Amino acid sequence: MSRVLVTGSADGLGKATAQTLLREGHQVLVHVRAPHRQEAVKELVAQGAAVVTGDLADLEQTRGVAKQVSAWGPVDAVIHNAGVYSGAAVLPVNVAAPYALTLLIPGPKRLIYLSSGMHRGGQPRLDGMDWSGGRETGTYSDSKLFVSTLAAAVARRWPAVLSNSVDPGWVPTKMGGPNAPDDLRLGHLTQEWLATSDASEACTSGGYWHHQRRMEPHPSVNDVNFQDKLLDELARATGIGWRDEPQLDEPNAR
Ligand SMILES: NC(=O)c1ccc[n+]([C@@H]2O[C@H](COP(=O)([O-])OP(=O)(O)OC[C@H]3O[C@@H](n4cnc5c(N)ncnc54)[C@H](OP(=O)(O)O)[C@@H]3O)[C@@H](O)[C@H]2O)c1
Repeated sequence: MSRVLVTGSADGLGKATAQTLLREGHQVLVHVRAPHRQEAVKELVAQGAAVVTGDLADLEQTRGVAKQVSAWGPVDAVIHNAGVYSGAAVLPVNVAAPYALTLLIPGPKRLIYLSSGMHRGGQPRLDGMDWSGGRETGTYSDSKLFVSTLAAAVARRWPAVLSNSVDPGWVPTKMGGPNAPDDLRLGHLTQEWLATSDASEACTSGGYWHHQRRMEPHPSVNDVNFQDKLLDELARATGIGWRDEPQLDEPNAR
């Protein structure tokens, strides 16, 4: 039994992930964007899930989410699932918030970041990016290139933590649209497996996964210089400095 936080679990892949983990007997902390979205997780709460609330486009609210998570107690795994496809919130929600939560939530030994096959169309360019959401700068593809790079950087810099990114395929959710061709069940299987399985492959780090198979990502994902530049840039933009050691054993320290 694991204790797992799933961000963005009011809908789509996040909700399906939380539902499956609950059914398998795990303790699940679901996350919604705003109080009115708690309605959408009512049936998960009825099955035992706890809820944290906060808009990941807003850094202060993201800090608040981390505090609520710490109050829930030790977390074994975080699935950074919340995401948006367009608009000025793409960089804050898809990249800056996962970075901030990675640094602010003590304890998890497994981190899974939702990426996309579309990361291959991203540009490995950090100049001029507005991470706060004031202006629309990076594209969705850029954001997924950055978040896969973040996952690989965390894997390299924190060897005690298993950190991976996942392409769920193009699946029928609010984001994917009703005509998406891929299998919804397969779209959330890999992140559940990486979060909770003891299978030897699921206990590896630094991978970019699709349907439980490691794939070769865009070459910049494993470019160590690009990884370090991204960490520096996110530390500067969020004011949350990178630490060379994960905070593993003090779940209620903050
Ligand atoms: N669907 C696909 O085909 C596909 C393909 C590749 C990658 N992905 C990735 O998979 C992840 C899940 O996607 P999905 O298809 O399940 O999308 P979705 O159906 O649109 O669900 C996204 C979830 O993220 C939450 N969210 C959005 N903005 C937020 C914010 N500012 N603060 C907090 N939560 C926020 C949403 O909350 P509300 O419902 O309250 O807005 C929702 O619960 C995303 O990272 C996405 O990029 C999806």
